[in-house]
Amino acid sequence: MFHLHKATQVTPDEGESETLRQLARQYPYPPRAAEGPGARAPYVRANMVASIDGAVTVEGRSGGLGGPGDKAVFRTLRGLADVILVGAGTAITEGYRLPEPDAVFAELRAGNGQAPAPALALVSRSLSIPPDYAPLTHENTVVLTCAAAPADRRAALLDAGATLVDCGDDTVETEEIIAECGRREWPRVLCEGGPQLLGAVVAADLLDELCLTTSPILAGGDAGRIVADTRADGAGLASRGMTPAAIMTDDDGFVFTRWVRHDRSSIH
Ligand SMILES: NC(=O)c1ccc[n+]([C@@H]2O[C@H](COP(=O)([O-])OP(=O)(O)OC[C@H]3O[C@@H](n4cnc5c(N)ncnc54)[C@H](OP(=O)(O)O)[C@@H]3O)[C@@H](O)[C@H]2O)c1
Repeated sequence: MFHLHKATQVTPDEGESETLRQLARQYPYPPRAAEGPGARAPYVRANMVASIDGAVTVEGRSGGLGGPGDKAVFRTLRGLADVILVGAGTAITEGYRLPEPDAVFAELRAGNGQAPAPALALVSRSLSIPPDYAPLTHENTVVLTCAAAPADRRAALLDAGATLVDCGDDTVETEEIIAECGRREWPRVLCEGGPQLLGAVVAADLLDELCLTTSPILAGGDAGRIVADTRADGAGLASRGMTPAAIMTDDDGFVFTRWVRHDRSSIH
């Protein structure tokens, strides 16, 4: 049995704000359960971009894979999230700035009881984040690390005014990362990678949804994939089945897919 998905075209003429609001309607987080086991568990969505042949970077950065439509989806997903979860390495490499309130989503966020802008959670074991990295000391930024992180680096970041939270002893435990998001009332998690962090989320079986942009290029080269397996035992990630929830295209040939866990497939 085949299902022919007609891709939804999201390139309306009503202007940028309306385009973004239309996009937001294509990417709803599931409604929060008022009570029961799932009531406090954050929903973990990842947003990644890859070339047709699966490359996650071009010349070491994901920027070469992007386009205007991808930027709009990226902005929309941020506009819907409570926290942006990102590997510290990616935040530095990609020059992440502090997420600002986005006027387009202000009403939506206020209606949901969300803060004006998502928080920024940087994941790092080495704590090799430059103390003068601008978002580091903002009240909306938290560094998720572990007790075994180098003491001198910890001291340097604390001296700079950073907020550090240990999520594990020897390693940064993914379950603890997501639990910390729950404790901080960040139920809508947006993981922006990179591949190591996403690999850890997948390995812990905590990924609920993947938003994947396929960039219309064949990149070649030896760039990695969106999910890296960094587990010490080298056992490899067991493959995870996902269900397609939506497929969109834009005028530039980008393809935007949403994949949800089998047991979450009722959200679309
Ligand atoms: N195509 C895309 O959508 C996309 C998205 C994001 C990034 N990228 C690209 O991917 C490349 C980076 O790949 P990457 O796999 O190295 O990125 P990453 O997952 O962000 O990992 C980089 C660093 O983040 C920290 N980290 C990540 N997961 C961790 C965990 N489970 N526990 C503790 N620390 C963790 C580590 O920091 P410490 O070493 O400090 O412990 C690690 O070295 C960059 O070139 C970036 O541009 C592409």
